[in-house]
Amino acid sequence: MRIISPSLLSADFKNIKKDIQLVESSGAKRLHLDVMDGHFVSNLTFGPMIINAIRQCTDLHLETHLMIENPHNVLDHYIRAGSDTVIIHLEASQNAIEDLTYIRKHNVCAGIAINPDTNEQHLEPLIEFLDYILIMSVYPGKEGQNFISSTLKKMKNMVEMRKSRNITIAVDGGVNLETISKVYETGIDITIVGSGLFKAENIPQRYKDLLDA
Ligand code: DX5
Ligand code: ZN
Repeated sequence: MRIISPSLLSADFKNIKKDIQLVESSGAKRLHLDVMDGHFVSNLTFGPMIINAIRQCTDLHLETHLMIENPHNVLDHYIRAGSDTVIIHLEASQNAIEDLTYIRKHNVCAGIAINPDTNEQHLEPLIEFLDYILIMSVYPGKEGQNFISSTLKKMKNMVEMRKSRNITIAVDGGVNLETISKVYETGIDITIVGSGLFKAENIPQRYKDLLDA
């Protein structure tokens, strides 16, 4: 499928509402929000207060990607901020089933992300607890990194593993005009694009070019 979820990390935060409106009028139906805690990854970005402000700018589906060590104690903040999907990292959670169940209990889609060096077989016991799987095609922590091609196989494997289950599979990191067609070939559902979209001179045109690539 060709669905692009713009990653706001690469957007212009002093004009965030304008960038949201640009991708919304280009046809985006969802936005990807990268929360970094300075522990699980070295960068720090934003938290629930900013997500709540973004919530007030748009009705688009908000997927919140938590790059947070032991997310358990803060899940509630990100749910209440207005996320429609909350994604934890398998590597950061002490009890993934408990965390995913907690997210679902609050009528929010429960997602899990795996780093490029995490074997996708680790997701098998969690599959019944998941609405969303995020395959990282870079090591999390910053925008604008190079796509790791060996993760393409993982995407194909995940598409097979989910069978007919109602689970969304997404890819995050290093996707741009050069790499996106290989991602589409894997059969995953959602492609997250940050710098490959927001750093373009003409964002609506780039959105269209990424869809047509
Ligand atoms: C990486 C983040 C990504 C990032 C994507 O840690 O999770 O969502 O913003 O940015 P690009 O598309 O520039 O790699
Ligand atoms: Zn992300």
